[in-house]
Amino acid sequence: MTTAIVGVGNIGSAVARHLVAGGESVVLAAKDQSRAQALAEELGPLARAASVEDAIDGADAVVLAVWLDVMRQLVPKYEHVLKDKVVIDPSNPIGFDASGQMMRTLPDGESAGSVVAALLPPSAHYVKAFGTLGADALAASAHRDPLAVLFYATDDGTAATTIERLIRAAGFEPWRAGGVAAASRIEAPTGDLHQYGFNGEVVDIDRARSATAGSGA
Ligand SMILES: NC(=O)c1ccc[n+]([C@@H]2O[C@H](COP(=O)([O-])OP(=O)(O)OC[C@H]3O[C@@H](n4cnc5c(N)ncnc54)[C@H](OP(=O)(O)O)[C@@H]3O)[C@@H](O)[C@H]2O)c1
Repeated sequence: MTTAIVGVGNIGSAVARHLVAGGESVVLAAKDQSRAQALAEELGPLARAASVEDAIDGADAVVLAVWLDVMRQLVPKYEHVLKDKVVIDPSNPIGFDASGQMMRTLPDGESAGSVVAALLPPSAHYVKAFGTLGADALAASAHRDPLAVLFYATDDGTAATTIERLIRAAGFEPWRAGGVAAASRIEAPTGDLHQYGFNGEVVDIDRARSATAGSGA
């Protein structure tokens, strides 16, 4: 299995490092391809760099590690290669106002997950994941004892199987928050199952289980 990671910034590079450390093959793409190339060289033989189109085309799963506004452009542009792929979306509807204060960029009740899922071709297998921790915590929390949980949200069985494998390979414990309707629960800045919702704590499976008890997750 090969995972394409589009975007090698804070989140994309952390996911790439963890997956390669867990023995997964990755193909990296970015706006500036030299950045993807540099990271691929650093990560060694399990990693290579490619254009966005070739990376997606040659992969089974795709992590769209770009901002939501970029995703709104990239998904329609690469719709032809996203067909049948597992598409992993870590985006949070976050922006910053003129004073640098973090704010939600979507209306209350609308999740980034619902926006991205609606843009994808119907045959894509959508899952919201890899965005439930801040980038520093994601980079620092693999293979903890007990394992740190990464929540995911999907209605798709193929996507669930794939993301559970990738989260485990990355050194975390997967925990399903629910379907796409539950995406807002795992998105910053307001989701109760995002790291911010736990007051910055990186939670383990006992905490995740109690936080989702009774929600049908
Ligand atoms: N940062 C966090 O703590 C955090 C936590 C959870 C979730 N997230 C979510 O994760 C996503 C990525 O955040 P980030 O902090 O990793 O962002 P980032 O550090 O700014 O990295 C964004 C990446 O997107 C790439 N990119 C931009 N336009 C592109 C295009 N047209 N084609 C291909 N690649 C393009 C950039 O390429 P270049 O390198 O070539 O510029 C860069 O590698 C966002 O949706 C964010 O909401 C972030």
